[in-house]
This record gives sequence, C-alpha cells and structure tokens, in this order.
Amino acid sequence: MHVIMTISDRIHAINFGQTIAEGTPKEVAANQAVIEAYLGRTMLKVSGIDVFYGDLQVLWDVSFEVRDKEILVLVGANGAGKSTTLKTISGLLTPGRGPSSSTASVSTSFPGQGHRAGVVHVRRPGGCSAR
Ligand SMILES: Nc1ncnc2c1ncn2[C@@H]1O[C@H](COP(=O)(O)OP(=O)(O)OP(=O)(O)O)[C@@H](O)[C@H]1O
Ligand SMILES: [Mg+2]
Repeated sequence: MHVIMTISDRIHAINFGQTIAEGTPKEVAANQAVIEAYLGRTMLKVSGIDVFYGDLQVLWDVSFEVRDKEILVLVGANGAGKSTTLKTISGLLTPGRGPSSSTASVSTSFPGQGHRAGVVHVRRPGGCSAR
C-alpha cells in the first residue's frame, strides 16, 4: 500500500466491479468507501492521551488506531505504559490534565455498540507469570 501511495499520481479504486473512488493517493486514501473496502473500518481509536497516577504522568500524547480485522501489538519494556494504556482504553483510568487533554479521546466502533462499548479489562486468575 505504501508503494502504491508513493509511486502513483492518480488512483482509480474499484470494488466488486464498481468505481468507488478516483483521485490523488491522498484523496483516495481518505475516501470512506475505500477505507471500508480495503483499509478496514477503524474499530478503536486512541487520540493524544496523557495519563497520570496522581501527580505522576506516565503517558504522553499516545495515539494509535486499530482497524477491522487488524492485529495491533503494543510493545514496551516493563513500566513503559502498556497496562496503563489498556486501562485507559477500558475506562479504568481517565486521560487528562496534559497539554493535549482537551482533544484527548478513546473511541470504539463495534457493530451495534455504543461509544466505548465492547472493551473490558479482565484480570487473569493468579496474575501474570514471569515465564
Ligand atoms: N497504580 C499506580 N500508581 C502509580 N504509578 C503506577 C501505577 N501503575 C503503574 N504505575 C507506573 O506507571 C508506569 C507505567 O506502568 P505500566 O504498568 O502501565 O507499564 P507496563 O508497560 O504495563 O509494564 P509491565 O511490562 O511491567 O506490565 C510505570 O512507571 C509504573 O511504575
Ligand atoms: Mg503491564
């Protein structure tokens, strides 16, 4: 996809025999029909979250999105902020107070579900294993 977007002057996108978009790579990439047909609908979007434990800030402006049928892996060393990110997504923690807090948000889009529905935090019995 990156190569197509880089080398093309114009793109004509078809889906099931019908034109769904045409234009510059930027225009086609932003086209909603193309996104739904080929890039996948955004199921989870995290935008600019700053998260604190009391006065201790542990996340700064974290943003990413996960599309339909896509697997996204969150990696980081111990204490990097993985669990904090997931706790914020599930609503156990609330983003706030940082410079980007006014625009910070977490949104989900699951079929038939409302805002932020469908994401819960489940603690594994016995906790985590070091193995
Ligand atoms: N309840 C808490 N109160 C204060 N600080 C916390 C709390 N939970 C986590 N932290 C701190 O927040 C930072 C991020 O921790 P977090 O647990 O999100 O990291 P992690 O990437 O999940 O680490 P690990 O790989 O060890 O699970 C660390 O500096 C941690 O010490
Ligand atoms: Mg963790």
